[in-house]
Amino acid sequence: MPAPVTGVLADLDRILLSTEQIQSRVAEMAATLNRHYANKTVSVLALMDGALFFVADLLRHLEVPVRLYTVSASSYHGGTASSGEVRMNWPAGLDFQGQDVLLLDDILDTGLTLGVLRDKIAAQQPASLRTGVLLAKKRERVRDVIVEDIGFEIEDEFVVGYGMDYQGRFRNLPCIGILNPA
Ligand code: IMP
Ligand code: MG
Repeated sequence: MPAPVTGVLADLDRILLSTEQIQSRVAEMAATLNRHYANKTVSVLALMDGALFFVADLLRHLEVPVRLYTVSASSYHGGTASSGEVRMNWPAGLDFQGQDVLLLDDILDTGLTLGVLRDKIAAQQPASLRTGVLLAKKRERVRDVIVEDIGFEIEDEFVVGYGMDYQGRFRNLPCIGILNPA
């Protein structure tokens, strides 16, 4: 008999991506970035809090010089659907002019968050701008946004784990799962 599922996993309907699947895809994404940024220094802008785990794992595979910056952005404000309004706290003095910028987030949903952030960075005239997400939902975007690196395309379902939360919980799951509707 399998051991009963307890703790935080008990709230999941099912596991969508295992720890092993995530880790091997993250390593592949890093290999692409190592080739792309060869002989360059990359300025990573990570969107907190969701991208925390993805960025921590991805950056450990990068072999090029990295500068890491973070910005908090949210469009959900606690629920399971985007509010349509993006709030962010851009650090005073953060300017990417002339830098090779890699914008990283956990998941592409409506496209609003990454659209707003890409505009903000582009206005600072970086040398280059590339965007990566671990997950992209197969759905119509409210806003079209260029994302060069996508880890996995997933169905339009609310996911948690590996940095992603529901009302502040589940970020610490090492896998990615679908919440139990109850
Ligand atoms: P967008 O602006 O609608 O593309 O939403 C992107 C942001 O919404 C991401 O940075 C996530 O923080 C959050 N988000 C979107 N979908 C999910 C989900 O299924 N689970 C948890 N967070 C999500
Ligand atoms: Mg987010």
